[in-house]
Amino acid sequence: MVSKPHGGKLVYRVARGNRRERLLSEIDELPKVIVDMDLAIDLENIAVGIYSPLTGFMMREDFEYVIKHMRLSNDLPWTMPIILDVSEEEAKGFREGDVIAVYYEGNIPMATMVVDEIYDYDKRMYAENVFKTIDSNHPGVSRIYRRRNFLLGGDIELINYIPNPYERFTLRPFETRVLFRERGWRTIVGFQTRNAPHMGHEYVQKTALAFVDGLFINPVIGKKKRGDFRDDVILSAYETLIKNYYPWSSVVLGIVRYEMKYAGPREAVHHAIMRKNFGCTHFIVGRDHAGVGNYYKPYEAQEIFSEFPDLGITPLFFREFFYCRKCGGIVHDKICPHSEEYRIRFSGTMIRKTILENKLPSKEMMRPEVAKVILGFEKPFVE
Ligand code: ADX
Repeated sequence: MVSKPHGGKLVYRVARGNRRERLLSEIDELPKVIVDMDLAIDLENIAVGIYSPLTGFMMREDFEYVIKHMRLSNDLPWTMPIILDVSEEEAKGFREGDVIAVYYEGNIPMATMVVDEIYDYDKRMYAENVFKTIDSNHPGVSRIYRRRNFLLGGDIELINYIPNPYERFTLRPFETRVLFRERGWRTIVGFQTRNAPHMGHEYVQKTALAFVDGLFINPVIGKKKRGDFRDDVILSAYETLIKNYYPWSSVVLGIVRYEMKYAGPREAVHHAIMRKNFGCTHFIVGRDHAGVGNYYKPYEAQEIFSEFPDLGITPLFFREFFYCRKCGGIVHDKICPHSEEYRIRFSGTMIRKTILENKLPSKEMMRPEVAKVILGFEKPFVE
């Protein structure tokens, strides 16, 4: 049985048919706000239920509750604020109760929104609570500092999806839920990733798959930090890996558009909630999930789940997988008795360095078929 959506009901706020026509015909008369890609993606994710039970951008009460308690004001677990920021000047131009038009990059009318609340917020407090640091070198924190100073809260209704270069790989929760059922899967494990797969990723997935019916590989597509793999590289790498090494009947590959925040533990819970809405019953959390630099302890993103017995999706925790030359295979510290000198760890930095030197990473580190696909790209990394 696929999991129940978070909060009980899958949100769907996409205007269709006559209603869409009517909204479009009235849109020119509405006050306008222009959003960037990051916000446009959040808006779309609200509309198609990836952020269920949210039906719009957060009002102050929910926003503050999430910051302080990691729950919505109705006590449902929720760890990351979902907010729409505007400048002071724009905020002054709106009244609470206004219906406004949301445009993506100037010319695509994306949605209407009822502005139920206009409020200000404390960015330092946001950073301290959500990212556990106020250091502007943290990519998620610096993004918050760059946001505008006022927030609009209220429900949205989508009129147009934003352009999507990866439509072929896009599955929305109302589609995955049908697909999982059609496959007869009762238990499904979701895998979050922002990387091209190395052997550690493959082993985490396959170990989890040994205990459930199906694996949903769900890479995040969207703006990432410098040095991360580019989206098209991640997708080609996964297509190759699945074709060569996975039984097709136990895997689904589908993207989620989402901008990584690198918030470690809090983001891990958010990642799990999104996958619950896609229909997953289980969710993989390995080493340093959604981490960056040394801001979070290696297993902090696992520990946080003990605060959410009511999450409604079961996290599966994994120790760090590595290759052990003595064992002659991929193992982790609970099952390998050998010392560090025999261990080859999967380091993203090492893999990147090797690829940038135009060399294949070792086969203990990455499948040669996958490595070759990556090397075929002129610029595999975000610059
Ligand atoms: S993340 O930012 O999306 O978490 P990444 O794509 O590298 O980064 O990781 C995806 C998932 O695989 C995360 O749950 C992460 O903890 C897990 N993971 C990555 N490498 C390993 C490894 N060597 N051993 C165990 N789990 C790992």
